Amino acid sequence: MKKGMLISFEGGEAAGKTTQIKRLLRYLKKEGFDVVGTKEPGGTLVGEAIRNILLHTNFEISSRAEALLFNASRCQLVADVVRPSLKKGKIVVMDRYYDSTYAYEGFGGELKQEDLRPIIDFAIDGAVPDVTFLLDISFDAAMKRKAADEKLKNLDRFENKAKAYHEKVRKGFLTLAKQNPERFVVIDASKTEDEVSEVIKKEVEKRYKLLQGK
Ligand code: TMP
Repeated sequence: MKKGMLISFEGGEAAGKTTQIKRLLRYLKKEGFDVVGTKEPGGTLVGEAIRNILLHTNFEISSRAEALLFNASRCQLVADVVRPSLKKGKIVVMDRYYDSTYAYEGFGGELKQEDLRPIIDFAIDGAVPDVTFLLDISFDAAMKRKAADEKLKNLDRFENKAKAYHEKVRKGFLTLAKQNPERFVVIDASKTEDEVSEVIKKEVEKRYKLLQGK
């Protein structure tokens, strides 16, 4: 049987993750692969309830509790969707995963990587991505893109934060990429949709073959 493959997409707001994930899923399905797309926080009933608390309420949530909520959602997703799908040899494509916690709650917020690591490790239980695509874009370019796109105008609690915060998050993602050079593929997301999706397709094909030992 084929080995399952875990792919995650990371990046700031309006970097084009959703579009690229849709394109990749469409392409892989057309090529005959069994694929599953998921989104964090969310992707399960518990996860969606947690997503609502995190993104669409004004509850006062402490930073540590917030990190735990993201990871509770993640833990449920890994148990219900990620692990069973990988076991069946599927390709799982994740719209955000634990690097988002390091970038947002860690680099962007006030929590240290070493404090986040144990709860993340507990939540993911060894399910590390085979490849992580970081769609990197400057805050100003992202905001321009956002202003041009009606669908992106609905701001949530995280997106409302200031430019300085988003820049810290961006730097955080780039630091994570440097710390994990084998796993990360950093892509300049200001390029055209076609250019970005070409890089992604090629990289997935290459890594999938390596994973199957071909
Ligand atoms: P998105 O649906 O636009 O990706 O929004 C999810 C928001 O949640 C985004 O602002 C990033 C944030 N987030 C974290 O802060 N930590 C996490 O672990 C995850 C998965 C998302």
